[in-house]
Amino acid sequence: MMRNRNLRENKLVTVINPKSPISEAYRTLRTNIQFSNIDKELKTIMVTSSGPAEGKTTTASNLAVVMSQDHKRVLLVDCDLRRPTVHHAFAVPNRIGVTNVLIGSTALDLAVQSGPIDNLQILPSGPIPPNPAELLSSKRMGNLLDELQDQYDLVLLDAPPVLAVTDAQILASKVDGVLLVVKSGHTDRGMALKAKAMLDNVHANIMGIVLNNRKANRGHYYYYYRK
Ligand SMILES: Nc1ncnc2c1ncn2[C@@H]1O[C@H](COP(=O)(O)OP(=O)(O)O)[C@@H](O)[C@H]1O
Ligand SMILES: [Mg+2]
Repeated sequence: MMRNRNLRENKLVTVINPKSPISEAYRTLRTNIQFSNIDKELKTIMVTSSGPAEGKTTTASNLAVVMSQDHKRVLLVDCDLRRPTVHHAFAVPNRIGVTNVLIGSTALDLAVQSGPIDNLQILPSGPIPPNPAELLSSKRMGNLLDELQDQYDLVLLDAPPVLAVTDAQILASKVDGVLLVVKSGHTDRGMALKAKAMLDNVHANIMGIVLNNRKANRGHYYYYYRK
């Protein structure tokens, strides 16, 4: 359920138009992830892609919404400490967030925000730090993820692209599963394969590929398959 606050600012399709085929495709993605959870519970899932502007934040945000509609306590964490945008998607402030918690200046419960969606809490990036990779590889980051896993049913991490900086590789080695977004008609095949190889290098558990922006033959904009 959506509270009135921030209703107008919110541009997420799963919020604005929950009955649309695109929203349905996000629910299909949710189902696929739930099925891949059968053998081993995946509580921390990171969303990344090879390059910028391929739909990482869009995917992570809409997935967070449909997961929270399935009566799960969900936390969406903005781990793109270079170009954070999760706070825009949910129209929450970004004065404090992950970076403050990591340097120990803010308690976790003060940094987490409720946002406009029931069951979905947001941990924005906080101020952009000079040393994102160092922060993400710190022991504190590992401890933070442990703490979050205890508090939530599902922790979704929005991440930077794999190819530009090491951040996504660092995070991938700390989470239970990774979703790799590929933008149809945009992502270069070679770049996508390189991103996958770099994630394999750090023994990431690539759960599957999310094909964003697929031209709708039968109304499905988003498509997911297991590797
Ligand atoms: N399937 C799509 N159809 C239309 N616009 C999209 C789609 N996916 C992403 N966008 C838009 O493209 C831009 C980049 O998407 P975003 O999710 O922020 O990418 P990333 O996080 O990978 O940089 C945003 O303005 C977003 O609204
Ligand atoms: Mg993004």
